[in-house]
Amino acid sequence: MAFAGTNVSLSQPDITQKLTERIDDLKQRIAAWGKRIRRYTERSTRFNQNRLFQSDQKRLYESLERPMVSGTGPAPNQADTVAFWRGLWSEPVNHSEGPWTEVVARKMLKNLTAQIVRHTVASRQHLTPEIALRLITPSCPLWSAPVEDSPFKDPFWAFYWPGGQATARYILDNKQVVQNRVVLDVGCGCGAGSIAAAFMEAKRVVANDTDEVAVMASQINAELNGIKIETSTEDMIGRRCEEFEVVLIGDMFYDEEFAKVLFEWLKALTRNGKTVLIGDPGRHGLTHSKREHLSLLATYQLPKETCLENHGYTDTTLWRLNKT
Ligand SMILES: C[S@@+](CC[C@H](N)C(=O)[O-])C[C@H]1O[C@@H](n2cnc3c(N)ncnc32)[C@H](O)[C@@H]1O
Repeated sequence: MAFAGTNVSLSQPDITQKLTERIDDLKQRIAAWGKRIRRYTERSTRFNQNRLFQSDQKRLYESLERPMVSGTGPAPNQADTVAFWRGLWSEPVNHSEGPWTEVVARKMLKNLTAQIVRHTVASRQHLTPEIALRLITPSCPLWSAPVEDSPFKDPFWAFYWPGGQATARYILDNKQVVQNRVVLDVGCGCGAGSIAAAFMEAKRVVANDTDEVAVMASQINAELNGIKIETSTEDMIGRRCEEFEVVLIGDMFYDEEFAKVLFEWLKALTRNGKTVLIGDPGRHGLTHSKREHLSLLATYQLPKETCLENHGYTDTTLWRLNKT
């Protein structure tokens, strides 16, 4: 009788040796299968980790698409985000982030534009009715909503500040101040100063605000008025601003510490030959000592809608910083 599947029989004289060989052969096969199973397990663990990585990263970006969750600050740099996630793994991760991150970035921009449009209305109830601006007004639900219901963090751009109104009004009435000149609108907010300068044939206009949503709102408002402006989110304070000839400051003296730094920088700009125009309704940061360096160019009475928004302010002024 032979063992099933073999030619080994109990009656053979070398049965012990044959059985030993057979057992060795089976042991080797078992070891080979063991190795295969281990390799498969490692590969599938790796595959699942990569999948988890991709879905976590995707979820992170998707959460950034929802301003309610993430706030409306700048999205994290893509390279930094990828480096962060990769840093979590002890071994190199081998997969491509693919073009979906770019798609998500484009979608975020579209979503933010839609949010701005959804929560604002086009208004001309201000000192420069020639310019339509998307703003949060008493007719918008966000006007009276609790802060936590707002999808935007500090939406300064959604209001047209009395100082900015003075700046834009003055430009619209005094074309020569910007015509054929290169204009920088620092702290542009809703972009009215930039739009006024572009209307009055400035050679080039850059709407600058460190808040990305503000420059987006400025672009939306520029388009609403059928003009094009450039935008920048760099912090220009302290820079020499070689390429600019006129610098607009609308309502930026609301904080005394910040006002000190801002004013020293503006003085340096005037020493370098720039025209600096300051619109201000009487904020405490524009102190008496600072006013001694300014020439008053115009005073405007604020419309009732603006008075309502800015309790206590009834008029606004436009100043030029003297060269000292
Ligand atoms: C009170 S709002 C005035 C907005 C606009 N100029 C107006 O009058 O309607 C001040 C603006 O300055 C921006 N801002 C603050 N610090 C800034 C900086 N260092 N550079 C550029 N913009 C800044 C804020 O984001 C905000 O939009």
